[in-house]
Amino acid sequence: MATLIQIGEIAQYDGQEVTVRGWLYNRTDKGRLQFLLVRDGTGIAQCVAFKKDLPEDVFEAARALTQESSVLVTGMVRGDERAPGYPGGYEIGITNLEAIQIADEYPIQPKDHGVEFLMDQRHLWLRSLRQWAILRIRATIIHTIRNWLDDRGYILVDTPILTPAAGENTTTLFEIDYFGEPAYLAQTGQLYNEANIGAFGKVYCFGPTFRAEKSKTRRHLMEFWMVEPEMAFFSLEDLMAMEEEFVSAIVSAVLDKHRMELEILERDVARLETIKAPFHRISYDEAVERLQALIEEIDDPERKAELAIAWGDDFGAPHETAIAEMFDRPVFVYHYPTAAKAFYMQPVEGRPDVCRSVDLLAPEGYGEITGGSERIYDAELLRQRIDEIGISPDNYKWYLDLRQYGSVPHAGFGLGVERTVAWICGLPHIRETIPYARMLNRLYP
Ligand code: 4AD
Ligand code: MG
Repeated sequence: MATLIQIGEIAQYDGQEVTVRGWLYNRTDKGRLQFLLVRDGTGIAQCVAFKKDLPEDVFEAARALTQESSVLVTGMVRGDERAPGYPGGYEIGITNLEAIQIADEYPIQPKDHGVEFLMDQRHLWLRSLRQWAILRIRATIIHTIRNWLDDRGYILVDTPILTPAAGENTTTLFEIDYFGEPAYLAQTGQLYNEANIGAFGKVYCFGPTFRAEKSKTRRHLMEFWMVEPEMAFFSLEDLMAMEEEFVSAIVSAVLDKHRMELEILERDVARLETIKAPFHRISYDEAVERLQALIEEIDDPERKAELAIAWGDDFGAPHETAIAEMFDRPVFVYHYPTAAKAFYMQPVEGRPDVCRSVDLLAPEGYGEITGGSERIYDAELLRQRIDEIGISPDNYKWYLDLRQYGSVPHAGFGLGVERTVAWICGLPHIRETIPYARMLNRLYP
């Protein structure tokens, strides 16, 4: 009896008869010899059907398989360095084969298609090698995030997705009708995290978050996954120290587990191998000075205009990229202008025009992957900030309460999963980092 195996573990079955269950990825027809690339979700194996070794009907069944037909293949595993596949180096000499369903003509051919076409076919595109590699890396990133936090005593406390008020920025809210009342999809779980630390000390939430970003960029999605740790008795310095260990652990887990996938993606792994704590730290003031000095050295007027910046401006993608290029690892930019950031950020003592915030910028132009800060913990100051930005204090009564019952200095951050995947995989656009991207003009499939 052949052993039912997963292709990812094929190396363990050298010389044995096995059965794999999967789909026909691609084929080469040499008349009397058929090379079938069969994938099963864990890998891709070359399966060889040799006419003279097989009953007529089995050989014909192999020939009749169309791209993406589902199939059961039985055969002998043999080591062969030249055999293509993932992992390569082994092939299956077919002894029996049974089609489960003969696929209709498959819309995605092994050739170049336009990206909009592929996004329309996302439900099928996921089967392609590159997408397979990306989403396996994504799964490891998520797994590592959870394990890293769980192992260090952070308690997962889930936060709601349906919320009565803005968590970040009132301009990017998705509003829904909650039995006649307006409600919003969560932009962040942070405000609830701040309540949860009062019960658990250090917590995290990890879920989908929503931003109605009315722009098309390669870094923005409408629905993205964010992990948000929040810690009582935590400072900005503590936050940076934690983040650099956390991000280094994520990169290192991907390097440990996914050399094959990174090779499929043609990722320059040397750029990932340098990602180790400590990361660089510069203040917003210094970042602006460095940008202004850089502009001085540039002749191209378009580039000059793109990088133009005055103190107080928030950074755009070109600024983030230019700053990151000055360093060989991720760089923390801290103490942003208070006016450019969310209402809950603690002002710097003696200099309230800047706040105790920090963004982590990834190398190679991937931009901000984390945003965080110390939070205002004084009730009066928080009330004042809520008034200043003109949001209704009624919705924040519970949030203000937290400052009345044992308020403590605290801090937290959010890491965007998709931007992290884009960076680690070296992808030009964020749309391939999530199984089903939600973008300005895309809600399908
Ligand atoms: O900087 P942001 O907006 O921070 C917050 O939401 C805080 N409440 C987090 C916290 O302190 N607990 O978002 C955090 C991260 C960004 O650095 C980015 O990686 C990602 O979330 N992000 C997006 N990713 C994809 N598409 C979007 N539209 C994103 N907006 C933010
Ligand atoms: Mg941010």
